[in-house]
This record gives sequence, structure tokens and C-alpha cells, in this order.
Amino acid sequence: MTLTIIGAGYVGLTSAVVYAELGHTVYLARRSIEKLEALKRGEVDFYEPGLSEAVRDTINRGTLRPTTDLAGAVSDSSVVMICVGTPPREDGSADLSQVFAVAETIAPLLADHTVVVNKSTVPVGTGEKVEAIIQKRLSKQSTMSVASCPEFLREGTALADLRNPDRIVIGTESIRARSALLELHRPLPGKRVVTDRRSAELIKYSSNAFLATKISFINEIANLCDEVGANVDDVAYGMGLDPRIGSAFLHSGIGYGGSCFPKDTQALHSIALEHDYEFKLLKAVIEVNQAQRRQFIRKIKKTLGEVRDKTIGVLGLSFKPFTDDIRQSASIDIVRWLHDQGARVVAYDPQAEHKAMQEIPRLQVCPVAEEVFTGAHAVLVLTEWPQFRCLPWAACKQGMISPIVFDGRNMLDAQHMREMGFQYYSVGRP
Ligand SMILES: NC(=O)c1ccc[n+]([C@@H]2O[C@H](COP(=O)([O-])OP(=O)(O)OC[C@H]3O[C@@H](n4cnc5c(N)ncnc54)[C@H](O)[C@@H]3O)[C@@H](O)[C@H]2O)c1
Repeated sequence: MTLTIIGAGYVGLTSAVVYAELGHTVYLARRSIEKLEALKRGEVDFYEPGLSEAVRDTINRGTLRPTTDLAGAVSDSSVVMICVGTPPREDGSADLSQVFAVAETIAPLLADHTVVVNKSTVPVGTGEKVEAIIQKRLSKQSTMSVASCPEFLREGTALADLRNPDRIVIGTESIRARSALLELHRPLPGKRVVTDRRSAELIKYSSNAFLATKISFINEIANLCDEVGANVDDVAYGMGLDPRIGSAFLHSGIGYGGSCFPKDTQALHSIALEHDYEFKLLKAVIEVNQAQRRQFIRKIKKTLGEVRDKTIGVLGLSFKPFTDDIRQSASIDIVRWLHDQGARVVAYDPQAEHKAMQEIPRLQVCPVAEEVFTGAHAVLVLTEWPQFRCLPWAACKQGMISPIVFDGRNMLDAQHMREMGFQYYSVGRP
């Protein structure tokens, strides 16, 4: 099949590569010539493991075709996918301006019977709005349909997730669109969930909201563990063995971040409110997540007192490991707080340091993790990059002013840290 993908971010570019690997011809719309040329050389402007190589391979095979000729690409495609951003507005609702702008642009360019697919995460009813925008500008002889195919990839494992999806959700009322989308995904594994457009849109938000709920739940249990002297790792392990609960997403820490969970939980809460429904559980999930960062900060204050003029080492800036994405990162929030309090922050992240420095120009970053310990009054572990476990902790301790570690991701062995002489604090572990 021939398709056009609009939006070359985490979702659009990785999806384009995987559809191209399946043998489809994929036009990837780029707005700037410079970015187009960079992509043709395999240069990707964000970090995702294996992506540059996969871009180069599929371009060389001729199946991935980055282009600035949107009109040519769209008119040659039977499927057009919208993969643009849907960032949060001030009030937490989703800003759909990028999606609507794409709908307006592509409407006059569509060939007859094109299926327009929305892969961006959008509120229930957006499919209808996109269809209405396109219908208004569609050439008189053409027909088209708008379907919803929400995306479930995780940054850091995006290619593997797209190549081996656990489910492919197809939301459409059109028989033609349904068979086109079943055909497009035919070689991929995973269950097919064929449903109406509104249900498909809601599946995406409900999935993210449920995962966020698990995280906030275990974080509340962790806080309780701190009070009663229990160990949240053992509690979570014991809970997770029950197959009705499952062990995934029962890892406590400083809460969720990233470009999806915070915005999608807020947006789902707004969707409910717009329909006069107060989603109380979700409101609590959001509040608990915000409180979790403050709780960690309280722990730091309680131990260090004033942080003014103290040097704080920070390990990890991205919102999770294996990505350079710092959107809604708990680490960035905590670094800002430390700066506001007059601390000097020295940070290390294997991938996110450039994006973090753009966000916080006064941030001092180190080329190697070991350097954040030098002259530090405390070191904070804020992203669970696995290599942090293998640092020469005992040697690093020598350079610290006081050997205090706050592990916001519960990734280090508490007993071992104490045996090495660290004053070690984590979340919900005695
Ligand atoms: N990042 C994830 O892990 C993830 C996972 C599942 C779903 N989603 C959802 O997918 C959508 C996209 O997310 P993302 O992380 O890929 O966003 P992103 O910000 O990384 O990428 C969006 C891209 O769209 C481009 N764009 C915007 N308008 C355009 C236009 N008119 N023409 C061409 N390009 C245009 C932007 O320049 C940007 O490169 C969002 O709705 C998000 O919630 C994201």
C-alpha cells in the first residue's frame, strides 16, 4: 500500500519506518528542506534506540520516502496518517490545533476513497471534527473516511513495540476503511480490536489513565510504607504475583512524567468534565503524582536543611531511561526547585543533557556520571538508567562532601549502599 505520514516525531517517524519495513511505500512529510536532507542522511533529531539505522535501511530500500512535496505524497496515497502533537492547554484539555491544521491542509489533496487515520492521541469525538473539516474542503468528486488508530508505543522501545504490538486498535464505521487498515497491518502480530471511532479514541486514554493509576497507587502505598516501616518492594512483589494484579507498573518512586501520561490523564479528566462527569479517581491519580515530587523534595529538605549554596549532583534528566525526552520530566522539575532554592546543580544524563540545557540554560552538565559526585553535598538518582547501578559507588563517595544519596527511582540496593557508608534514602523502603 502507499501511505503518507504527517508528523515526523516519536510516533510518526518510528511508525513510518515500521510500515516501510513491511514493504509499504511510505511518504513521510517534512516541512523543512534542512530536516528533509538530514533525515535522508539518517540523522534523527531525537534519540530512540535503533531508529537512525532503521531510517537509513528503509530509505535505501526505497520504501521510506521523506518528502516536502505534501501534495504529491497525499494524492498518491490510499492512507494518510496524522501523527502530530496534541499538547496540553493551560486548563489540561488537549490542544488539537496541529491536528485540525493538518486536516485543513490535506482535504483538497486527497485522492478518491482515501482513508485518513488519526494516530495522535485525541479526545473522544475528534474523528468527527476532523471529518467535518475535511468534508468542507474536499473536492466534489471525492469521498473519504476518517478512522482512529491510536498508538501505544513506548519511547525507548518504540521500534520493538511497533514491530510486535500486543494490539492494533482500528476505530471506524466505514467498511472500506476497516478492510484497508486490516490489510495495512496484516503482517504484524497482535490482536485486532475493530471498533467504532469513539471507542478507539477512548481506549488510548483509558489505557494510559489505568497505567498512571497503578503508578499513583503504588506510590501511595510507598508513602504508607515510610510511615509504618514496611518495604514497598516486597509489598509490590507480593501484590504483583496475583495475576489479576500483575507486576507491571508497580514500581514506586517520584511519579510518572513524559509527554503522554501527565497530558493524557489531564485530558481524560477534562473530557469527563465536558460531559458533566467528575472522574474522581483520575483526579486523585493526578494529584498523587504531583504530590509525589513534593514528598521527595520534603525528604531532601528534612535531611539537608537549607540547600542554598550546596552542591547537588543529579543522575538522570530524561523522564525515563532510553530516551532524551524531558517533557514533564520529574527530574527537570526537581532541578528547577533546587535552582530556585539557591543550590548549585551538577547533572549527568546519557542522552538528555542537550535538551535539558536548552530548557534550563544555567544547568551544569558533566560528560561522565562520576563527575556529579565531586564536591557534592548529596546525589539524587532521578531517572533509572540501568548503568547507574554499575557506577563505582564506593570510589565516587570519596569525592563527596557528605555521602548522602536520595534514590527517587528505588533502583539501588539499600543495604549495599549503607554498607558502603552512604546515608541512603529511597521511596517506601526502610
Ligand atoms: N511519544 C509517545 O510515546 C507517544 C506514544 C503514543 C501516542 N503518542 C501521541 O502521538 C502524538 C504525537 O506524539 P509525538 O511524541 O510523536 O510528538 P512529537 O512532538 O515528537 O512529534 C510531532 C511532530 O509533528 C510535526 N508536525 C506538527 N504539525 C505538522 C504539520 N502540519 N506538518 C508536518 N509535521 C507537523 C512536529 O514538527 C513534530 O515533529 C501525540 O498525540 C501523542 O500523545 C505519543
